[in-house]
Amino acid sequence: MGVAREPLKTITTVGEMQAAADAWRRAGRTIGLVPTMGFFHEGHLTLMRQARQRADIVVVSLFVNPTQFAANEDLSRYPRDFERDRAMAESVGVDVIFFPDAKEMYPAGYQTTVAAPELSQPLCGKTRPTHFAGVATVCCKLFNIVKPHFAVFGEKDYQQLLVVTRMAADLNLDLEIVPGPTVREPDGLAMSSRNVYLSPPERAQAVWLSRSLQVAADLLAEGETCRDRIVGTVWETIRVRPLARIDYVELRRLPDLAPADEEPHGKHLLALAVYFGPTRLIDNTVLSFPE
Ligand code: PAF
Repeated sequence: MGVAREPLKTITTVGEMQAAADAWRRAGRTIGLVPTMGFFHEGHLTLMRQARQRADIVVVSLFVNPTQFAANEDLSRYPRDFERDRAMAESVGVDVIFFPDAKEMYPAGYQTTVAAPELSQPLCGKTRPTHFAGVATVCCKLFNIVKPHFAVFGEKDYQQLLVVTRMAADLNLDLEIVPGPTVREPDGLAMSSRNVYLSPPERAQAVWLSRSLQVAADLLAEGETCRDRIVGTVWETIRVRPLARIDYVELRRLPDLAPADEEPHGKHLLALAVYFGPTRLIDNTVLSFPE
């Protein structure tokens, strides 16, 4: 017979969260963290289920982190619905939602940042130069507050996954960073909280993001290994959609995100960011070139 779970609890202060984490650790319980900014969809729930499978205690942090948004970005209109998120987290057996406000996370006088500059500069870092320092900093704080044995990050934000993995290794943080799969709508669009911003015509054209990545994977499977032909095909597949404005389509070596050679070898990240109106969507796939 399984042990009955406590009902989902919401914790809003750093002190209470750290005290709870200390008590669980003293009792020998494994803590898994899923960091989020809320407005859950199946992608988040998949990461929570993944954490549930291997942790005694699953903590989901829900914090729309202001330091990873630039002044011209969507911080104020980022979708929020705490009661809906709470019910969804409860449905997959989450134990605690850590739900601090900005003053709790960044009290007056706050000034410290953490950054992994080389991994943060290319791809999304070109249009969002301060974004990954904001992400790395808040994740470092969350790791010190929730004290997890592992934290799950989705591969949809692959550059973020690389930055956080590097930061945790560089700072000798005592936790494992666990990748989780990208979850897609039936037509292939990667799930994202930002998909709600899309108008119906934009939503219809957004399907070409994942389709273009599939075209690239198919090309490679047929023996095409030229970087420019692969990237160019993805670019052209999206460029002809009238509502899409390409930010970037790039092939980068893994795990250091160095620019790909003309004839790449080994694992590479094919990543893209595309605007539909003010909404910026990202997607990626990992391609394995012949060694
Ligand atoms: O991926 C996100 O939702 C955020 O970047 C994260 C990891 C929760 C940090 O704020």
